Amino acid sequence: MKEKIAKIEDLKREKGVVILAHYYCRPEVQAVADFLGDSLALSVKARDIDAKTILFAGVHFMGETAKVLSPEKRVLIPNPEATCSLAESCPAADFAKFKAEYPDALVVAYVNTTVGVKALTDICCTSSNALQVVESIPQDKQIIFAPDRNLGSYIQKVTGRQNMILWDGACHVHEKFSKEGILELKKVYPEALVVVHPECRGEVAELADYCGSTAGILSYCGANDCDTFIVVTEPGILAEMEKKYPSKKFIPAPSIEGKSCNECEYMKMITLDSIIACLENESPTIELDEETRKKASKSIEAMVKIA
Ligand code: 13P
Ligand code: SF4
Repeated sequence: MKEKIAKIEDLKREKGVVILAHYYCRPEVQAVADFLGDSLALSVKARDIDAKTILFAGVHFMGETAKVLSPEKRVLIPNPEATCSLAESCPAADFAKFKAEYPDALVVAYVNTTVGVKALTDICCTSSNALQVVESIPQDKQIIFAPDRNLGSYIQKVTGRQNMILWDGACHVHEKFSKEGILELKKVYPEALVVVHPECRGEVAELADYCGSTAGILSYCGANDCDTFIVVTEPGILAEMEKKYPSKKFIPAPSIEGKSCNECEYMKMITLDSIIACLENESPTIELDEETRKKASKSIEAMVKIA
């Protein structure tokens, strides 16, 4: 492992590549990242960073978003098969038909979408800013919210907004957290606070002391005096939690299948070996149709202006 990490550091220096990684990546992949973050922070970093080449250690839509915002940069992705079940649950052609049924509605789409769906979107959002994005839209305007029905329902509940039409998509990882499993853990650790990602089902989100994005969860755990947390999101985030707050205890929530934690197999497809091969070959890269990219870029820039 040490030799692989040293090799990546040499290749990065030699080729002038900056590595961005999401919190759900394997701990050893997080260790070679120049920047680690949630999907919002990484998109902004990809746009603003002074580098000719970015290697995106994350799933495909994250690399695409980086390329949409920085077309002049080369974006390397270690494994193009690392997709996202949530993005896949909303094919652009089907979404275009759905959108046509509501000609007066404004489209808000989560960044966990393909570039084709972003091109059909008015304002993107992430789990960090979905609430602010929806609240920025006049009350009487109908909204199509895609693709995550759980995040959409959560926003509807918090805002009390009735005129939101939800696309019926979900993340297979967050859908599988078990309410009963979390309640069992609460019996063992009654003092623990429950931190939940809003892609979880409503009955799970209801158990949350805090519900928010991966970056939001990290800050909440740091700012709170409590020292035990039940973590209801992909357990890759535990590496950063334990590094940042070594005196606190983080317990991964179980899945409905009885697994003690619930991993995203797509994020785990990014390995040190795939990063080495990608740096050596300087491929695969993200390539986008320019017209689609420009349309998608408007919806992401609209989000960045709001939050
Ligand atoms: P964040 O927006 O919190 O980074 O979440 C991304 C993601 O893929 C959640 O499943
Ligand atoms: Fe996609 Fe879910 Fe994996 Fe996040 S955890 S990348 S939403 S499949």
